[in-house]
Amino acid sequence: MSTAIAEKSLEKPVERITSAASDTKALDNTRFASAPLFTQLSRAVHDASHRHGAPQSVAEISITPTGGGVGGVVRNLDANRPLSAALVSHLQQALDEHGILIFKQQRLADEALLAFSTYFGPVFHSPADVPVLGSSDHGGTAPDVVPVANVEGGYTGHGELLPHTDHQWTPLPSAASLLYAVEVPAQGGDTTWYNLAQAYADLDADTRARIDTLQLITYNPFVRTAGQKRPLYRTPDIAPLGHAFPHPLVRTHPRSGKKILFLATHSEVELVGVAPEVGVALIAFLRAHIQQPKYQYTHRWEVGDIVHWDNQATLHARTAFDANDKRVLKRVSLAGARPF
Ligand SMILES: [Fe+2]
Repeated sequence: MSTAIAEKSLEKPVERITSAASDTKALDNTRFASAPLFTQLSRAVHDASHRHGAPQSVAEISITPTGGGVGGVVRNLDANRPLSAALVSHLQQALDEHGILIFKQQRLADEALLAFSTYFGPVFHSPADVPVLGSSDHGGTAPDVVPVANVEGGYTGHGELLPHTDHQWTPLPSAASLLYAVEVPAQGGDTTWYNLAQAYADLDADTRARIDTLQLITYNPFVRTAGQKRPLYRTPDIAPLGHAFPHPLVRTHPRSGKKILFLATHSEVELVGVAPEVGVALIAFLRAHIQQPKYQYTHRWEVGDIVHWDNQATLHARTAFDANDKRVLKRVSLAGARPF
């Protein structure tokens, strides 16, 4: 009797295995069996498993606050070497606490930057119908490593970039980015980050109650033609361009639970269901609040810096630099959840 029960209990799993095996047979896997590693990400993760040395531990590194309104500086970490599980978790918690982490004195190939970055999440890719930086030359989606550079093949030029969060106009904005400095100008090209969690925390209770449930649309800057004026707030007399994805004006951080004022200072935005004159005034007030110096940290880049920023909880801006100077950075952006 017990044998019969045992045999009976095996029946279902065996059926499932047979079914799964026949499903697999239906696929043509032969083209994968001997394929060379051909994407940058495939190569990066493949090579990472062969990297030498024992994983680095929490005890080997130090993290100190920048002394500004946001950020911590990480020392004694080698982004080429493997990280222990405890160190990955420690760095993720430090990012949640500090908003940005600055890793000093790195020297990395693109694949190593990808391998290091993806300890903290999968690579961000925008849908093909929602353009982002770098997507126009790559069939609707950006490459895994985006050259943020004013040299051939790079994007963003040498002009000033006003405070923004990357990919806020997409359905799933990126959670974070890692930007690695290969070459920096003698002057200018500094990046300032803004602490949006602290900006929210400092608002008075009445303002917080007023904005807590509002939805904000941030319009895609890549669908406006070059030279076209970008309004700071879309009013009914301005035709909307591109897709519109409302996200909470006040979002909650998916790990720390902190509330964040998720608003760029100069993007074209619109509050859903709010009278235009009310929306214009409210957004202008919040933008002035965010831009107070106490929420800022300005980074003077050195070759070898990697800055890992929480794109859900900070803005970033760049000063202009001499067009004859070279500024070459590499960026990997990491995927994010739908803001809530
Ligand atoms: Fe950016």
